[in-house]
Amino acid sequence: MNTERSTQRLEDHPDRLKWNARYLAPKRLASRGYCPLYDRAEALGIPGGPVLELACGLSDQALALAASGRDVLAVDISNVALDRLRGEAAERGLESRLTCVEADLVSWRPPADRKFALVICVMYWEEAVFDYAWTAVAEGGLLAWQGFTLDHLRYRPSQNPDWCFKEGEPASRLPDDDFAVLHEEDVDEGHRVIRRMVARRNRT
Ligand SMILES: C[S@@+](CC[C@H](N)C(=O)[O-])C[C@H]1O[C@@H](n2cnc3c(N)ncnc32)[C@H](O)[C@@H]1O
Repeated sequence: MNTERSTQRLEDHPDRLKWNARYLAPKRLASRGYCPLYDRAEALGIPGGPVLELACGLSDQALALAASGRDVLAVDISNVALDRLRGEAAERGLESRLTCVEADLVSWRPPADRKFALVICVMYWEEAVFDYAWTAVAEGGLLAWQGFTLDHLRYRPSQNPDWCFKEGEPASRLPDDDFAVLHEEDVDEGHRVIRRMVARRNRT
């Protein structure tokens, strides 16, 4: 199993403390077992090659992709979540396919010498992160993102609007010449409003 650690000290990062506490609550440790965003990306066709998952948490798709023979780079700030993910991978004999990176995505950057067939991020939004994430997608590869829309504030007015897609985001942040948006949907689940977007990077 590969584990990389960024040089930045993470122990006291507020996001890490917050999410570690959440992952230590028993209900959080139950994986969902499915991810409609990943299912959509898979249906649209992911070319061969490695996968990058940002803010992966306990990602089932990271394990499924590793099981299918792909190399998966999974990044999250929570060591609790990544320890759990590593444990699952080890139980399934997938250690060699999964590289976990403990890092703050705001300061982390993808390896400059590597492009990914799929870059996926589920329920984490930071404009600055998106703005480098798309650059890591290989030609013909997919970028898949899911997060809250501003409509979610109807259900949770206390939510920080900076953590919600603004009008048109995330697609509006992509360079038109480089990507074709293949799928975009807003879903009101009765307790949250989310948007899913999948885009393919054009071949030059
Ligand atoms: C809502 S959870 C989503 C987790 C997973 N993608 C899912 O759908 O179950 C948000 C994730 O973002 C991670 N996270 C929050 N802030 C982060 C940061 N600054 N850098 C890296 N990961 C972060 C958390 O640890 C958590 O795993």
